[in-house]
Amino acid sequence: MNDLRSSQWYGGSDRNTYLHRAWMRRGFPSHAFDGRPHIAIANTASDLSPCNSHLDEVAESVKQGVYEAGGIPLNLPVPSLGETQVRPTAMLWRNMAAMAIEELLRANPVDGVVLLGGCDKTIPALLMGAASVDIPAIVVPGGPMLNGYFRGEAMGCGTDVWKLSEEVRAGRLSEKLFLKSEGSMIRSRGHCNTMGTASTMASMAEALGTTIPGLAGTPAPDSRLLETAHETGRLAVEMVAGGRRLSDIITRESFHNAIVTLAAIGGSTNAVVHLLAIAGRLGIELTLDDFDRIGAGVPLLVNLQPAGKYLMEDLFRAGGLLAVLQQVKDLLDPTAITVTGKPFVSYLEDQEVWDADVITPRNRPLQEDAGIAILRGNLAPNGAIIKPAAASPELMQHRGKAVVFDSIEDFHARIDDPDLDVDVTSVLVLRGCGPKGYPGMPEVSNMPLPKKMLQAGVRDMVRVCDGRMSGTAYGTVVLHVSPEAAAGGLLALVENGDEIVLDVEGRRLELNVPDEVLRERHVNAATVTGFAAPVRGWERLYVDHVLGADTGADLDFLVGSSGPDVARESH
Ligand code: FES
Repeated sequence: MNDLRSSQWYGGSDRNTYLHRAWMRRGFPSHAFDGRPHIAIANTASDLSPCNSHLDEVAESVKQGVYEAGGIPLNLPVPSLGETQVRPTAMLWRNMAAMAIEELLRANPVDGVVLLGGCDKTIPALLMGAASVDIPAIVVPGGPMLNGYFRGEAMGCGTDVWKLSEEVRAGRLSEKLFLKSEGSMIRSRGHCNTMGTASTMASMAEALGTTIPGLAGTPAPDSRLLETAHETGRLAVEMVAGGRRLSDIITRESFHNAIVTLAAIGGSTNAVVHLLAIAGRLGIELTLDDFDRIGAGVPLLVNLQPAGKYLMEDLFRAGGLLAVLQQVKDLLDPTAITVTGKPFVSYLEDQEVWDADVITPRNRPLQEDAGIAILRGNLAPNGAIIKPAAASPELMQHRGKAVVFDSIEDFHARIDDPDLDVDVTSVLVLRGCGPKGYPGMPEVSNMPLPKKMLQAGVRDMVRVCDGRMSGTAYGTVVLHVSPEAAAGGLLALVENGDEIVLDVEGRRLELNVPDEVLRERHVNAATVTGFAAPVRGWERLYVDHVLGADTGADLDFLVGSSGPDVARESH
């Protein structure tokens, strides 16, 4: 018996190895079990995850590569999450998917895994689960969809939904035209084509070293996706032979590169919570402050929606992620390696930018300092985040009176009330949207502005929330406020009219209310805002164990790794 993990199932002549082999034969010849690597293809293809529905075809290319390199490929359907489809929010299920992926990989006779993801939560869940098993693993992001067009202009999925729906609310676009645009937005297979969470997490996977370099951002219909998927299958076999595990690739140094990348591409704020969770699985100490420190001074070089103008197809045409990172090579850690075993920075040598309006030169960045800012203060002692690249410069220093909403339902019920006491300087506060409070931490922090503000021509206001924001959204939004209201955060005690101070440069978020008043409010607070603990099922488990957004919102008992070994079996 060799030292392959799968040989623990198949190597030998006893009753159990007979059982394992016999039930797998079904067309496999006996030499399939002679000690060659068995590679799982953890496949999130699903008709109900439309952004991933093409992954079965990608899996076929991976299979060919695995066979070609002498391995045995095995399709392993794993939980999939369609961001736009699942209720109440896909984030509630990220940890469940990660837990299932972890257990499926550990329980089965596989030596390595190719992770096929795309839609927002799928790549984070795949990496979290694989990290806790720590076998050789390699990611194939499914790629973004092609640009959609409406009325002759490119449409960014997600971002343009928010924009157009605000136009309808402001009375500048008819509902008929709005609905007509619906069929134009999603032009092809693939995930969202803005620099939303899916594009960001594909870029994070590449910057962490877990993809073949140059793959992230390849449009889903582009034949080069299948070409690299084939290569990935080959590489997975080589990784098993070389004993290259995920923990050899994802290190503190590769998180450094991911954070620089996040700033340079103007990536989604959701990457913060996902990277923290992945780091937690690998026992790597990564904190919110690392995002501020490492991202500080990194220029924004990618002119993509929601921060800019173009879409992922344009980024690929302009040279792609590696051409972006070639310009900030000096900021990257040269020691971080990739799945190929070579340093990530070694792939940046010959990269060129073909369209300087899409990937701007380092000396002409879209923003000088695009890192995510971490705010602290009495309103967020554990931290809150803001994405300056998506915010309005004139609102970065702001003080205003709070207009408070206790839940997203409360918000929807009152935001367009003509009598709502709000003006352009107000700070919209939404609570009850953290991991525990909602539960699941939905993407609601980018609250639509009150109708009367929109009609007055206002396009941005300061918003503060303990939830998340869609990666395709924009605005001066303070999010991931920790601790959340439902976990005892001060956000629960904010009242209408309280002054809130936002100072992005000073990294402050303060509630300007005397301590003695807050103490009194605390005593009088009968229940935590809008929070009713679920009584059963996954939601119960989730609420009992979920950690704060400031550490990645994983479940406390899922942090860390249990490794690949299973000591017992019974038949
Ligand atoms: Fe799937 Fe945007 S909804 S990536």
